[in-house]
Amino acid sequence: MTSTTSSPDEPTAAQPVGRTDLPALDVLLPAAEHLPPDAREERLAALYAYGPPTRGAHVVRANMVASVDGAAWGPDHRSGSINDDADWRVFRVLRALADVVLVGAGTARAEGYTALDRPRGLRHLHDAPLELAIVTRTGRVPEALTQGERPPYVLTAPAGAASARADVPPDRVLVVGHDTAGTTDGEDSGVVDLAAGLAALADRGLVRVLTEGGPTLLGDLLAADLVDELCVTTTPTVVGRGPGRIVAGTAPSGTTALPPRGARLAHLLHSPDDRPGSPSGTTAARWLLPLG
Ligand SMILES: NC(=O)c1ccc[n+]([C@@H]2O[C@H](COP(=O)([O-])OP(=O)(O)OC[C@H]3O[C@@H](n4cnc5c(N)ncnc54)[C@H](OP(=O)(O)O)[C@@H]3O)[C@@H](O)[C@H]2O)c1
Repeated sequence: MTSTTSSPDEPTAAQPVGRTDLPALDVLLPAAEHLPPDAREERLAALYAYGPPTRGAHVVRANMVASVDGAAWGPDHRSGSINDDADWRVFRVLRALADVVLVGAGTARAEGYTALDRPRGLRHLHDAPLELAIVTRTGRVPEALTQGERPPYVLTAPAGAASARADVPPDRVLVVGHDTAGTTDGEDSGVVDLAAGLAALADRGLVRVLTEGGPTLLGDLLAADLVDELCVTTTPTVVGRGPGRIVAGTAPSGTTALPPRGARLAHLLHSPDDRPGSPSGTTAARWLLPLG
């Protein structure tokens, strides 16, 4: 899931800076527990502690928000219009625990990502810098990300390398395109090899990965069986026709869609609060995905 800003404590109309009034959460499963607002968030962090790697050197957690009727964004084409303060509370903790946030270039553009910071007040959970990595076939890096002191890593295919290197320093460009030797026309497929990209990030010590989408990237990660867990917040909103769901894309021609897979519920949180910015009923589920 994404916020309308890159830093969880940057001010927006919905999320003023330094707020300390985030809502209580109740753990419904596996065992009832009340989590009152907590500036240090140690209990919530324990509930979301990364497990050991099983699919490589890395662990990939996806965090997405959806409306009750399955919309992945609101009428403004941003997820900020369907998330709420309960979601925000989880979102901050997930960013606090990660080494790197991985997003598709479409999300970086739509949501206006800039260089990331650890959520203020949660640096005791993990004090290394929070890195950002974007996935792009074209290598076009959003302008807001080319200006700062800490440019993102860019995972791209050979076709996007020159464009990416024009936007960020060469050591931040990870060219992880599929081997083109097998293609009949010899042209660059332009497809980013996500497994190779995650391995390249892990080589740089970035093993705890948090992907915040978007739906196209999440679809590709799931198709490649690279997602260890899927955290889904459902907010009590109904959007109606229009927006897509949290997973998008079709199987490339010549391949078949994967059969549905089982998932195991690690925990389920519920927001009992009922006030502006935090309507009761939001749920936050942590689903573990067994190896496919
Ligand atoms: N509900 C939520 O939690 C949530 C989370 C995130 C985003 N969103 C919403 O989702 C919408 C954007 O959806 P989206 O599907 O376009 O997002 P996306 O997956 O972030 O962006 C798609 C773009 O990212 C790049 N990309 C993604 N996967 C790639 C891959 N495997 N290989 C190469 N490039 C890849 C490509 O960029 P290039 O064109 O540069 O090649 C592609 O055009 C926005 O409205 C946003 O607000 C919702």
